[in-house]
Amino acid sequence: MSGRLQDKVAIITGAASGQGAMETKIFLQEGAKVIATDIQNDLLTKKDAELRKEFGDNLLSITSDVTSEDAWVNIVKQAVDKFGKIDILVNNAGIGTTDKTSGLTDSTVEDWYRYMNTNAMAHFLGMKHVVPYMKKNGQGAIIDISSLASVQGIAGASPYTASKGASRAFTKGAARDLGKYHIRVNSVLPGWIVTPMMQQFTLNKEKLDALIKGIPLGYLGNPEDVAYAVVFLASDEARFINGAELVVDGGQSVRG
Ligand SMILES: NC(=O)c1ccc[n+]([C@@H]2O[C@H](COP(=O)([O-])OP(=O)(O)OC[C@H]3O[C@@H](n4cnc5c(N)ncnc54)[C@H](O)[C@@H]3O)[C@@H](O)[C@H]2O)c1
Repeated sequence: MSGRLQDKVAIITGAASGQGAMETKIFLQEGAKVIATDIQNDLLTKKDAELRKEFGDNLLSITSDVTSEDAWVNIVKQAVDKFGKIDILVNNAGIGTTDKTSGLTDSTVEDWYRYMNTNAMAHFLGMKHVVPYMKKNGQGAIIDISSLASVQGIAGASPYTASKGASRAFTKGAARDLGKYHIRVNSVLPGWIVTPMMQQFTLNKEKLDALIKGIPLGYLGNPEDVAYAVVFLASDEARFINGAELVVDGGQSVRG
């Protein structure tokens, strides 16, 4: 049986944890070949060993930092050397509000650039290096993981919010630039999803209850909920969808 991403070659960043790890697994299940990258070497190596048992050589894991241009040159070279082409890029790696205090007046200029570099500039670097191969291939699909924060903001996390807004706007510009090459660029805007990034909220009952109250479905999302949205946008099922934002938030952003 053929998968929804059969024989497509995908680069997924932030693949050692949370949503990226789930996307890697489901992409492999759907028949893709995956280049899984993350800055956390030990966790990535562990995930690689687990998945390799089932998916063997369809997985290539590369420890790397998305903010390093040299790292992107290496990722793209290894991807093309091993699999011959690149069809999909998932710009998923990110740092969240648990990473460090990230409020407006207590953040430093260094904090600001850390968020902007990891959550937005890295999307530019990924595209810059992957797109030439997608052009050669005659098509491609890029999915940028932004956040519902880019629409609503998160109190106490202004630099994070700004970085996700930059990513969301960059997606739009890139969609306009790349459409003529049959390369589609779309955003996914997750709401509250249970991953290690969210632990400061999910491990605190009071904070968790407050979050759930704002979600019409009455529960937080799981990595699969986002991963299947990404699969859809990456697949040919979404062939006329370009420059869109797919909100995955249980209805949190709906206003009555
Ligand atoms: N969890 C949520 O509620 C939520 C909501 C909205 C958006 N998001 C976004 O979803 C994406 C995935 O986050 P998650 O929830 O799975 O969190 P997570 O912390 O489980 O995963 C993020 C991964 O990114 C990796 N990473 C961080 N900096 C990196 C770098 N410089 N280079 C390479 N890898 C790096 C981390 O090592 C980690 O494995 C992020 O972009 C995040 O901002 C998450």
